[in-house]
Amino acid sequence: PEYISVANLGLALGVKQHVFLAQLAELGFEDISKESILQGETAALVAQEYGFEPTVDVGEEKDLKPRPTPEDTSALPQRPPVVTIMGHVDHGKTTLLDYLRKSSVAAGEHGGITQHIGAFSVRMSSGRDITFLDTPGHAAFLKMRQRGANVTDIVILVVAADDSVKPQTLEALKHARAAKVPMIVAITKVDKSDANVDRVKSDLAAQGVEIEDYGGDVQVVSVSGKTGAGMDDLEETILLQSDMMDIRAETDGMAEGWVLESSIKPIGRVATVLVKRGTLRPGDFIAAGMVYCKIRSLRNEAGVEVDEAPPGTAVEILGWKDPPDAGDMVLQAPSKDKAEGATRYRQELKDREEDVATMAVQGEERRERE
Ligand code: GTP
Ligand code: MG
Repeated sequence: PEYISVANLGLALGVKQHVFLAQLAELGFEDISKESILQGETAALVAQEYGFEPTVDVGEEKDLKPRPTPEDTSALPQRPPVVTIMGHVDHGKTTLLDYLRKSSVAAGEHGGITQHIGAFSVRMSSGRDITFLDTPGHAAFLKMRQRGANVTDIVILVVAADDSVKPQTLEALKHARAAKVPMIVAITKVDKSDANVDRVKSDLAAQGVEIEDYGGDVQVVSVSGKTGAGMDDLEETILLQSDMMDIRAETDGMAEGWVLESSIKPIGRVATVLVKRGTLRPGDFIAAGMVYCKIRSLRNEAGVEVDEAPPGTAVEILGWKDPPDAGDMVLQAPSKDKAEGATRYRQELKDREEDVATMAVQGEERRERE
């Protein structure tokens, strides 16, 4: 069970009640009686003090879990690749993205009112889509990675031709390597008079980046976000890379994704969510961390309402009671109860962790006093 009374725990451990209560007090419990209820993990910690190795039933059915990944994905529909742009400050990441956004077929369709939601899909002239993420906050990126998330399929490392490798280039390189996803180097600002592409290449090679000019397999594309030079080449390189990876996902079933960013706007609390599996629609229930949401509406990067967000797309979601945290996983729930229940359960787990942490600190202090 998830909870146990002190009386029952004492019985289970075979300790006399008054002895047990005294020992619990010594362990740092305050205001404890035989009727006190301990949470499973706390009880387990106590049991360990008595030399037991308990297992705790954490009541998994209360939480939402991602679906297992099918072993064979070859029959699933293809989804757009998710590409993250990283690089040193001012090296031209946003300019490059803006260029792509404006040249998108979709941008032409809705007049190209660009919203800066930091994530958007571009329809290539070939009719294929690529989803781009502007450098996510490092904290959120780290958080997603710690949970084993491959939020991104491909990383584009942006290096300015007039500035070459800089501290944040190395930082981005570290992230890309840790994410274990293929990297494409985009050397930007090649239109500038002091551009030196060769220097960038040799500086990267010196950092152990195995670029193709040096016999490696990391593709390097020279571009300008100002003139558009090399942009077709960059798009082609991305699509080629994603074809090699054969990126597919279910469009049906309970959806999964990640919170990329969240904010409060005049229209309410919004969060940009990258859908990785399944399809989100208005009216769906989702949970992210300790908050849930009945989706009121979905909007694309142009602020246009859409009826659905299939895998590999990023959308702004309205309808949150509280803003979710960037980096949190998003899971669709079959009902409001399930979504709400999961967030409540997660809150309980968190409180419990805090209880255990407090106990550990109190125990430490007690030992120091003795
Ligand atoms: P942060 O988001 O602040 O890290 O910067 P960023 O990497 O997004 O750079 P951004 O796109 O904002 O560009 C920084 C400056 O470089 C701006 O003044 C751009 O106009 C300029 N710039 C970006 N790309 C190019 C390019 O290809 N050629 C030229 N000449 N200037 C560029
Ligand atoms: Mg920028």
